[in-house]
Amino acid sequence: MSGISLSAASLYNRVQRVIPAIEWPAFCQDIDAILRLKRERNAVILAHNYQTPEIFHCVADIVGDSLALARKAMEVEADVIVLAGVHFMAETAKLLNPSKTVLIPDMGAGCSLADSITPEDIRLLRQRYPGVPVVTYVNTSAAVKAESDICCTSGNAKAVVESLGVPRVLMLPDEYLAQNIATQTDVEIIAWKGHCEVHERFTPEDIREMRAAHPGVTVLAHPECPPDVVAEADFAGSTAAMSDYVGANKPSRVVLVTECSMSDNVAVEHPDVEFVRPCNLCPHMKRITLGNIREALELDKHAVTINPAIAARARLAVERMLSV
Ligand code: 13P
Ligand code: SF4
Repeated sequence: MSGISLSAASLYNRVQRVIPAIEWPAFCQDIDAILRLKRERNAVILAHNYQTPEIFHCVADIVGDSLALARKAMEVEADVIVLAGVHFMAETAKLLNPSKTVLIPDMGAGCSLADSITPEDIRLLRQRYPGVPVVTYVNTSAAVKAESDICCTSGNAKAVVESLGVPRVLMLPDEYLAQNIATQTDVEIIAWKGHCEVHERFTPEDIREMRAAHPGVTVLAHPECPPDVVAEADFAGSTAAMSDYVGANKPSRVVLVTECSMSDNVAVEHPDVEFVRPCNLCPHMKRITLGNIREALELDKHAVTINPAIAARARLAVERMLSV
């Protein structure tokens, strides 16, 4: 979506099904200011699928899952990238497009998976499993990526693991993603014990209750959910894969077993699909607001920097992933 020639007033139609009219006036000033600041600063906003609809549908230029945001960040020609998402996504954008100013509106927008593993943990694992390649999920710090052979996302994890042509890999730090991928490949996967604090809360009973309460509902789950939850779902995939599934299959009723804003954002595109809404909020994603996006553009808050020695090694791991 291009901000040029748009105004908040002309955008409400797009989101009226997911933002109550009474809430809309509170967003308008910030939306107009952000659209103006993007032009003045030659900036683009990249927003993850978990951002709220007033960000996702009204000010973002590029939206998607972690993989799409990484690919698109590399191609940005504007001077400034604002990453409406969490810190590891902003670091990935900086790694892939280092000459740009990359801003994250709230430095506290972290991730429980990124917090679950350190570079030292990886060095110890390499001693314990000599010669076994280390595949790290992009939901990690640049310092952890720097200790890795290759990165992956939920959208390409199986392809990345199989691209290595080895019988065994370490896949870190998401234990559930690793276990879910292990069911799809002959490669032996050694996992770590990190979890997403949002997806680990779903249970198989939740899914069974949703099916009982909403007959015929199609259940789509993110692969960061525990394997017994994924086993109860009709389909598991990255946030982009879930969105694509809805577009391609047009289920009459669907539940997205993931972060809450996903349903709002996908529902805008599919007025004919009924979305059942049990979900869990990601407190880190929710730190990003129109207010702090505006402040980021006004005051250059907060520019992402990465130690050059770490960046060089981390970039290799991300670039290897993108070439798979
Ligand atoms: P995706 O790569 O599927 O968008 O997932 C990112 C994430 O943080 C999920 O919790
Ligand atoms: Fe991290 Fe989970 Fe939030 Fe995604 S949803 S950013 S994996 S804590």
